[in-house]
Amino acid sequence: MYEEDFQIEKVNLSLWKRMWSLIMVHRKKLYKSFFVMSIVALIDVLFPVLNRWAIDTFIREQNYDTLGYFIVANVIMIIVQAYTVYLFIYNNGQIEMDLNTDLRQRSMVKLQNQSFSYYDTTNSGWIVTRVTSDIGRLSEVFAWWLVDVIWGLTLMVGVIIVMASINLKMLLWTIIIIPLIGIVSWYFQTRILKNWREVRKKNSQITAAFSEGIMGAKTTKIMGLEILHFKQFDKFTSSMHRKSIKASVLSSIYGPIVTFITSISIALLLADGGNQVLGGVMSAGTLMLFISYANIFFQPIRQIAATLSELQMAQASAERVLSLLDKDIQVVDTPEVIEKYGTILEPKPENYEPLIGKIEFNKVGFYYNPAEIILDDFNLVVEPGQTIALVGETGSGKSTLTNLISRFYEPTKGQILIDDIDYKERSLGWLHSNLGVVLQAPHLFSGTIAENIRFGKLEATEDEIIKVAKMVDAHEFIMQMDKGYESEVGEGGSRLSSGQKQLISFARALIADPSIIILDEATASIDTQTEHRILKAIEVLLKDRTAIVVAHRLSTIVNANRILVIDKGQIVEQGTHQQLLELEGTYFNLYNNQFTRQQENQLLRRL
Ligand SMILES: Nc1ncnc2c1ncn2[C@@H]1O[C@H](COP(=O)(O)OP(=O)(O)OP(=O)(O)O)[C@@H](O)[C@H]1O
Ligand SMILES: [Mg+2]
Repeated sequence: MYEEDFQIEKVNLSLWKRMWSLIMVHRKKLYKSFFVMSIVALIDVLFPVLNRWAIDTFIREQNYDTLGYFIVANVIMIIVQAYTVYLFIYNNGQIEMDLNTDLRQRSMVKLQNQSFSYYDTTNSGWIVTRVTSDIGRLSEVFAWWLVDVIWGLTLMVGVIIVMASINLKMLLWTIIIIPLIGIVSWYFQTRILKNWREVRKKNSQITAAFSEGIMGAKTTKIMGLEILHFKQFDKFTSSMHRKSIKASVLSSIYGPIVTFITSISIALLLADGGNQVLGGVMSAGTLMLFISYANIFFQPIRQIAATLSELQMAQASAERVLSLLDKDIQVVDTPEVIEKYGTILEPKPENYEPLIGKIEFNKVGFYYNPAEIILDDFNLVVEPGQTIALVGETGSGKSTLTNLISRFYEPTKGQILIDDIDYKERSLGWLHSNLGVVLQAPHLFSGTIAENIRFGKLEATEDEIIKVAKMVDAHEFIMQMDKGYESEVGEGGSRLSSGQKQLISFARALIADPSIIILDEATASIDTQTEHRILKAIEVLLKDRTAIVVAHRLSTIVNANRILVIDKGQIVEQGTHQQLLELEGTYFNLYNNQFTRQQENQLLRRL
């Protein structure tokens, strides 16, 4: 999902309300900043007043009696201003970091609690961008923009009050141009915003094109698609280039125009005020004061107008971050279950009952989306310690069955019972601490081999790690690596072969000693020696546990207590290898097509 999917043109109030509640967590510091910023603005207002005094007293009247006070007042104000600016930057830096940390932590907690299915449907690149750049941008804009606004408002109100108390007509010459500045700002800013929005849209298309281009680089080479990709990319970049230039040109015209309009107001002040000064009605100091005020009065408007595009981007970021934070979790425990067994991040393992390993599907129905029913009235009983092999064509529902047992998804109808109790009556944590799942393409975390095995049981000792590694016959190759068990596996296990990765993932599952094991056998063919090792390791892994295996290897299938042939979400045949062959049905055909070649290969290898 990229930026253009969230094109917001209008101000979204409910979004800001929700965002506001997240920001108000840090209200103490925020209020402090507001206070400090008002002082900064008030000092900005006071300096021209002080200068008016200097001009009128020291220059016009040539009276130096109060020079000492003037110097002291100036020094004090400079010190206070320096200190408040320091306070403001320090405090706001903190707010930015607090907000950043807080939002990241919330996201991480949410992501850890989020169910398996979320990751089936959400692109990981999307999530990473949300928790990095979007949260960064949000924190920055909120920490600094709000105080800018407070500073601007205080400054403008302060200036108006002082002006009004001195000379109403002169005040009029200053504010008379506000409507003009308003119209110009509106004209330019809407156009600048529109262009920036298109730039961002192009930018995300470029990012997408980049990542496609890099991820698909090998395919591009094979198919000779370089020119096509480049042309498309070129189209995006030149369009982005045009729009950026247009936005920059508009921005660069906007500033001088506002300055020009401001000088109209200064001209009016000079014309009228100059006459008053010559007529002796007004002092030169007062005229200077108004001119200084006219110069600073429109600064906040310009500054806030210039950051409107940032605010708009922040709204888009807020929308995406909130879509992550507020996304419903599909599979959750009920409050009663949480009460007894704790949550995922704060479990109460002392209340976990031991899991024996009986699995029962009772009239289970299931769909990913209601339009496509995958299972309907599915029934199955697996006794503790049995190994069940699931075979069937692609898309028949094998992985779906394992996902349901793992409670990555829950039945939409019927029940799944574990040890004769509906598994929803006990916690996800309880189930997962007793369940070992080995996926087709196992993921290893960056870190050492020992660390990766230890993920199966965090309190495991070194001896235990070596013991399981030996059991799955991984010890030998681990010892041959540069640092043995302390060797780094690389990102995602990239420094290991796929067979080695599988052995490590077996060791990781084995060390937890789960009562139920789910194995989605890898189809990738590996060299004979590793293949042989993996077969032996699987045997060790499945021994004395309830095992559900999505089987592709003939040997795993033959060793299973029962084979289920799945077709369109139903068990069409079941029994042992021998029984099923005698049926001469689906399994028989499958066997003849798919497995005879495997068998031949094995025979050849033995010769
Ligand atoms: N996350 C999902 N969202 C929607 N539909 C899905 C999802 N996962 C699987 N399906 C659909 O459910 C059906 C069963 O898929 P499943 O992955 O269980 O098949 P399988 O038997 O494991 O196939 P394979 O042997 O290719 O792994 C298929 O029609 C598939 O398109
Ligand atoms: Mg599958």
